Amino acid sequence: MEIIVEPPSNFSFSELRGRGVWRYKKLIAGEYKRLISINEGGTPLIRSCNINKNLYMKYEGVNPTGSFKDRGMTVAVSSAVSNGYKTVIAASTGNTAAAAAAYAARAGIKSFIVLPKGKVALGKLAQSILYGTTIMEVEGSFDVAMGAVMKLYKDLGIVYPLNSFNPWRLEGQKTIAFEITEDIGVPDAVIVPVGNAGNIYAIWKGFTELVKAGVTDKIPRMIGVQAEGASPIARAFIEGSQSPVFTDSPETVATAIRIGKPVNWRKAMKAVRESNGTMLVVSDNEILKAQRDLARKEGVGAEPASAASLAGYYKALDRKIISPDEKVAIILTGHSLKDPDSMGKAETKRILINPSFIEKIILEEVNDHNSS
Ligand code: F0G
Repeated sequence: MEIIVEPPSNFSFSELRGRGVWRYKKLIAGEYKRLISINEGGTPLIRSCNINKNLYMKYEGVNPTGSFKDRGMTVAVSSAVSNGYKTVIAASTGNTAAAAAAYAARAGIKSFIVLPKGKVALGKLAQSILYGTTIMEVEGSFDVAMGAVMKLYKDLGIVYPLNSFNPWRLEGQKTIAFEITEDIGVPDAVIVPVGNAGNIYAIWKGFTELVKAGVTDKIPRMIGVQAEGASPIARAFIEGSQSPVFTDSPETVATAIRIGKPVNWRKAMKAVRESNGTMLVVSDNEILKAQRDLARKEGVGAEPASAASLAGYYKALDRKIISPDEKVAIILTGHSLKDPDSMGKAETKRILINPSFIEKIILEEVNDHNSS
C-alpha cells in the first residue's frame, strides 16, 4: 500500500513551528488521537571537512534510539494506539526492534520482536533488552523473521505490525527529505543504504511531495547502496532486470542490511528509476574502510550499514555517476555504538605500558607525526 498525500498548495517551511518529525505534521498523512514521541528527528546535517566539502552527512545516529527508525516508529506507534491497538510486533535486523521496543514502552503497550538469532549487533540487542520487550529469535536470516511476522499479522488481527511494509513508518521517515531541504536546499543526489528498501522510497516520496507543495521543482537522484553479499535489488540494476535477484543466504558485516528478500523492492526500484538514480554494490572491506574514514576524517561514528552510503559515494565518484562538484547528502542511518564489534575491527595502536614510558612514546609519536 502507498499513502498518497496531497500537500497544501503554496506551502512554505516558514509557516512551521517546533523541530523534529512532528514539525512536519501538516505534510504527514493520518489523524492521530495520541502522539507517541521521544523528540525524534531534527538530526544534524554535517558538512564534510576532509572528504569533500560538497558532501553532507545526515547523522541519524543521534535519534533517541540511535537510528532513523525512530522517525517511522513515532508515526506508526501513534497510528497503532490511535486505532486502539495494544500489541505491536516487528521483525528486525536490530534497529527496528530497539525503536519498536522504546516507542511501545513509551505508549504503555506490549511489544514483540522477532530477530535472526546470532546476527543482531550487540548494542541493538542490549537496547531491546533494556527497553523491555519479548524477544523471539529464529534460526535463519531476517527474511525468515519477516515472513513469520507478515503471516502472523494477517492471521491474528490483534497485533499491529511495525515493519516498513506498514506505510505509516515511511510517512515518518520521509521527513529526512524535508530536513535536508530546509538545511541546504534540494541536493543533486542522496545516497542511502538499502536493506528492506523502505527508507530510500520514503525519502524520495518526501522530495516528490515538496515538488507537489510547490517548494521546489527538483528531485535528487536517489542512489541506493547494498552490500555485496546481500544485494538483490542492486544486482537487478546491474543485470538490467525488472525484478530483484533474491538470495536465501545473505551475508555481510553490515548486519542491519543483511537481507535477501527486501519486501519494499518495488517501491525502491520506482524511487531509483523515477529519480534517474542508480543502485550500487559495495564490498565488506569498502564498508569497513568507509566506517573508519567517517570516524577518522570527520569525527562521525556510524555503524557499518550506514557507512555503506559513504562507500557508495566513493564508488559513484569513481564511476563518474556523480561529480565532486555536486552537492550530495549521504544518510548515516545508525550510530557506531550500535555495533561495538565492528568498531573493534579497526586497526589502532593499543599499548600495555608502564606509566614511566608514556612520555617517551608521546614524544616519539609527535616527532613521527610532525616529520611525516
Ligand atoms: N541502515 C540501518 C542502520 C538499518 O538498520 C537499516 C534497516 C537500513 C539502513 C536499511 O533501511 O530497510 O529501509 O532499506 N534496518 C531494518 C531493521 C531492516 O530491522 O532494523 P531499509
